[in-house]
Amino acid sequence: MADQYDVVIIGGGPGGYNCAIRAGQLGLKTACIESRKTLGGTCLNVGCIPSKAMLHASELYEEANKNFADMGIEIGKLSLNLKKMMGQKDDAVDGLTKGVEFLFKKNKVDHVRGKGRIAGKGKVIVTGEDGKETELSAKNIVIATGSEVTPLPGVEIDEERIVSSTGALELKEVPKKLIVIGAGVIGLELGSVWRRLGADVTVVEFLDRALPGMDGEVSKQAKRLFEKQGMSFKLSRKVTGIEKLKTKLKVTTEAAKGGSEEVLDADVVLVCIGRRPYTEGLGLETVGIEVDKRGMIANDHFKTAAEGVWVVGDVTSGPMLAHKAEDEGTAVAELIAGKAGHVNYDAIPNVVYTYPEIASVGQTEEQLKESGRKYKSGAFPFMANSRGRTNHTTDGFVKILADAETDEILGAHIVGPNAGELIAELTVAMEFRAASEDIARTCHAHPTLSEAVRQAAMGVEGWTMQM
Ligand code: FAD
Ligand code: NAI
Repeated sequence: MADQYDVVIIGGGPGGYNCAIRAGQLGLKTACIESRKTLGGTCLNVGCIPSKAMLHASELYEEANKNFADMGIEIGKLSLNLKKMMGQKDDAVDGLTKGVEFLFKKNKVDHVRGKGRIAGKGKVIVTGEDGKETELSAKNIVIATGSEVTPLPGVEIDEERIVSSTGALELKEVPKKLIVIGAGVIGLELGSVWRRLGADVTVVEFLDRALPGMDGEVSKQAKRLFEKQGMSFKLSRKVTGIEKLKTKLKVTTEAAKGGSEEVLDADVVLVCIGRRPYTEGLGLETVGIEVDKRGMIANDHFKTAAEGVWVVGDVTSGPMLAHKAEDEGTAVAELIAGKAGHVNYDAIPNVVYTYPEIASVGQTEEQLKESGRKYKSGAFPFMANSRGRTNHTTDGFVKILADAETDEILGAHIVGPNAGELIAELTVAMEFRAASEDIARTCHAHPTLSEAVRQAAMGVEGWTMQM
């Protein structure tokens, strides 16, 4: 007879594992099926965690290489041990994936290894690595199968010379010339890693700006700063083919509109033009769930079109972010347990972990203009922030957008040191529907970077103290 569960989750990434742990905590009999060897999904294994470990290490390397001497720290000849740097990244991944395994045990969640597929109402079949099938019976099924790399037509990823983010996190040596296709989050984060370690990086982007989803002022300033660091951009261009020669790759590009061909040389090409929902072999047809043309499963408060089947994370609508998947997973477990699970999509922060970091929450200025909402704004540069000056981290600014009448914060955008940490204050403020005056009147420690956030809020009120 099939094992009986209250909840069976397919996928052990941030959406799935958070759902599983919360369901376990709430006393639901829970199983989480994962086809990878380790839990943690894209995020822990090949995404957020290894990329941040490499971003951190490469940033320290660049600091030591370029900035230590200016602060009176003399270290002699600097050298890179790439194998060791990769090793510390692998240690971070290993520790965190084992941590999820531990939390499963602690909360009595069964970790089922293998590929899961829905086989009708309340029925999931798991095919193990050895090909053996096990049937699970579930009152609730949660789809948390995540996403996969969007392929570029005509370009075959071999994960050695033509790589996705996964291969770019495993390179055995620093490429002399790296071409990045797509000036989005992965392109700028992993492009920064390899530039800092010595690669000559050129980014080819189809649209006319880098980070196209971000606030216009932010993406303009960010591109300028990346250029200052030595990254080159070829905007409004597309890659039409890659020829693999013995020692080089010949990358043919042309204008996005067509014509004006240009051929670029590369040792490695990173393809990062987005990710798409992953539902291969999931048996959706057995319960009547359809996907849209992007492969996405629609949801209404996390419920799919099939009764008793829920969906969370990258495989459904909304930003493809780990914390969004995590919050959805938690909300679904709470809803299944009869509680009030909820996600506020207006207050989901988005961080690009480059130097400087780029962080945003809420609406961009362009979105507010388009919707016709009347708003006021305040901005403050890190150049005028005392901690920015003492730390020699003066690039960037904080911008806050608030409703013209009520002063409620509608969006916040930061380019600057620790922007990813600073955005949390503004996210909490938005969650509490705070006015920018609330931030402006809150005491902030001196000297801190957070004073720039306060000054931007004071700017909205018209009382910034510019230096
Ligand atoms: P996933 O993490 O993709 O997990 C889904 C899991 O389901 C996978 O492990 C897969 O093996 C498994 N699975 C799929 N189908 C089946 C099946 N049929 N049976 C069994 N198992 C199955 N987001 C951030 O918020 N911050 C970051 O810094 C960040 N950095 C990133 C860096 C990179 C290089 C990449 C690629 C992504 C990054 N992301 C980041 C995005 C983040 O990784 C995803 O948004 C997040 O992992 C989505 O979680 P998920 O649970 O929906 O899916
Ligand atoms: P992305 O959507 O961020 O950027 C893709 C870029 O490629 C866009 O600028 C797009 O205009 C461009 N593009 C699309 N087709 C193209 C083509 N044919 N030629 C040239 N350019 C083209 O996607 P990316 O960087 O692949 O990342 C995928 C997702 O992973 C992100 O959207 C994000 O959800 C997640 N992620 C999040 C991170 C974070 O939160 N720090 C870090 C890395 C990934």
